[in-house]
Formats: sequence, C-alpha cells, structure tokens
Amino acid sequence: MKKVMVATLLVALVCTSLFAQGGAEAAASVVTNAQKPVIFFNRQPSDPVSGVIDMEVMNWNDKTYYVGFDAAGGGAVQGQLVVDYLATADPAVIDRNGDGIIGYVLCIGDVGHNDSKARTQGVREALGTWTGSTDPGVENTKEGSAVVGGTEMKVVELDSRAMTGTDGTTWNANAATDAMGGWATRLGDQIDMVISNNDGMAMGCLQASNYPAGVPIFGYDANADAIEAIGAGILTGTVSQNVDAQATATLQVIRNLLDGLTGDAVVTAGISEPDQYGNKISADVEYLPETKALLAQNTGVNSSNWQQYAEGSRDQGIKQTDAETKRVLLTIYNSGDNFLSSSYIPALNYYAPLLNIDLTIVQGDGQNESSCLDRFTNLNSFDAYAINMVRTNSGRDYLDRLQY
Ligand code: BGC
Ligand code: CA
Repeated sequence: MKKVMVATLLVALVCTSLFAQGGAEAAASVVTNAQKPVIFFNRQPSDPVSGVIDMEVMNWNDKTYYVGFDAAGGGAVQGQLVVDYLATADPAVIDRNGDGIIGYVLCIGDVGHNDSKARTQGVREALGTWTGSTDPGVENTKEGSAVVGGTEMKVVELDSRAMTGTDGTTWNANAATDAMGGWATRLGDQIDMVISNNDGMAMGCLQASNYPAGVPIFGYDANADAIEAIGAGILTGTVSQNVDAQATATLQVIRNLLDGLTGDAVVTAGISEPDQYGNKISADVEYLPETKALLAQNTGVNSSNWQQYAEGSRDQGIKQTDAETKRVLLTIYNSGDNFLSSSYIPALNYYAPLLNIDLTIVQGDGQNESSCLDRFTNLNSFDAYAINMVRTNSGRDYLDRLQY
C-alpha cells in the first residue's frame, strides 16, 4: 500500500515537473500580437492638418516601420518636370489666349495626406505660386513666373480642388472629370496647363468631354495606363514613385523581422545589401532612422523616357527564396484607389510568393475607417501586419486591436 502511494506520488511529481517545463517552454515561444511586426505603408501615420509624423504610433514596438517614398523629393521632381517642359515650349503655342500669362489648374487629391501636400508644395514652389499653404483655392497662391522658351512669363494658378468624391473618397478621378468639365467651361482658353497630383485624377481630367485638346497635362504615379498615355502623346508627364521598390521593401522588412534580424540589418538586408537568400532590391531605398521610414526615390517620366517604365519591368534582384512561409495580413484603405489597385497590389502579389510570404489582402471603401478595421480580424493567425489606413491619424485604432 505504502509502495503504491509512493509510486503514485512519484508519477504525480514527475508529471507536474514535466508539465511545468512544457508550459514554460510554450510560454517563452508564444509571440503576442503586440510583439509582431507592424509595417505602415503608402499612408504615413501623421497629423492630417500639420502633416507632422506620429512618432507615438511609429514607436509602438521595435518592429514598427513605415515604407513609402521620398514625398518632398517627389514634389520637387514633379515641379521640375513642369518647369523643364515650359523651358522648351513655344510661348506662342502654349499661351492659348496670348495674354502673356501661363494659367494652370491643379488637382490636389487628399488635403490630409502627406504625399498630396508635398506635391502641391513642389508644383507651387517651382512655378512661384507658393505662399506657404497646401490648401486648395486661388487665395492660397500668388502670381508666379517661369521661363517659357527663353522668355520669362507670369504664371497663375486659376483654380485648384481637393477632388473628394460625392461618397467622401479622396483622390477621386470622377470628381476630377467633373471639375475639369467645369473649368473648361468657366475658364476657357485661360487654361494653358493642367497639373494633377496623381495619374488617376489626370486620366479623369482627360475624360471630360470638353477637355481642351492639346493642353499639356501632368500626373504622378507612373501607372500603366498613364505610361501608355504618354506614349500615345495624350499625357505630357508623370512621376514614378518606384512602386516595385516600395512593395519589395514592405515585404522585405517583414521578412527580415520574422527571420529574427535586429538593429541595422532589419533595414539593410535585401535592401542595400544582399540578404541571406542572395536577394537585394536594385533601386536605392533610403532609411530615415528618426521616423523609422524606408523611402524609395522618384523619377520624372515624359516622352523622352516613358519606354523604360512600360509594364512588365520587375526587379530582377528579387528571386525565389526557400524561406519559411509566414502569414501576413495587409490592409488597403480603398479598393477603388487607382494607384494601389493598378500598381501597388500587382507588385505585392508578384514579390510576396518569392519571399514566401502568404499575403491576405483586405480592402476598405476609402471613406470609413471601419470598412478597413472590420476586416482587420483573426489577428492571432498572422505573423505580421501591413497597414494602409483610410485616415493618416488612425494608426492607433489598428494598434489597439493588437494589444490583447
Ligand atoms: C498616390 C496616389 C494614391 C495615394 C493613396 C499616393 O502616393 O500617388 O495615387 O491615391 O497614394 O494613398
Ligand atoms: Ca494665357
């Protein structure tokens, strides 16, 4: 009887200690959602009015980063593209009403978005119409000047609009079609040039039935349809924000973090140096430690170089890896966004399988954060998160869901 009791006790003891050990191991290997990588992309966590970057959100955990492109530099590239065009234009042709003034209209996009603000500033600075404000409206501009075919001419911003759709979506191409129609009617041959902060709105302007034929028009993004339109001589120019470099960098940072890299290696492996699989993004991607931001560079595209940007040119520096498959949940603020749906998502879908990243993409309606947040679910079954939110100041709402 005594022996049996001792034996039972022994078994119980062994079991308890085994269990305790197993439990401890399990606890050590469990990664909570709050400890997983969070990459914001394309819409930088920031104040919609001041544009100031939200470092509280960016410092959520040591695996939080932003991947985008150099927005200020891009605004300058866009402005330069327009200035370069004017420099070689014939004043007698471009100045349609011969009043000695170059009149232009501007499609802004999203007044609360850093990218939009940077482009408005870049254009207005280049043309001398900048007063320190990125808001729409003639009252926020002044008379500028530019050299047109060797002659200095006055430049005036005739009108500008945010381009919010009737449903509240920003960067809205239909709103641009309507606005352009109204401008063509009201301003007539005062319009010598149309500038748009993205290709979607530029292509929208060209859809207006009364678009003044031959008036130069500039976009931004280098979407496939815009590149084609440059080739066809319909669009004058655009700016490439290097979507391939951005999509790859978004995935590469996630890969690096999930592979256990720390410190500088997180933002250099596979980006500025080959990673353990021999992959490296071919284009330059800059890292700004103070904002934890990885930024692709911009280039101007016009009739002289559009062929280089034609579809199908993927980064040959990224090849199939044998990395362990990881699951990533990725949100897109608006399923109707021209740039994200026609350029960014195809790039993500091309590179993710090469990096063995199993992507689940959920998309919102571009109006209500809940349209995205309601699909930001089942969080325990993902290894990392990539977030593109409706409003640039909604980052916290996503992070709150990762808290528990
Ligand atoms: C693009 C726009 C796009 C926006 C979405 C910008 O960087 O240029 O076309 O609508 O991102 O956030
Ligand atoms: Ca004129």
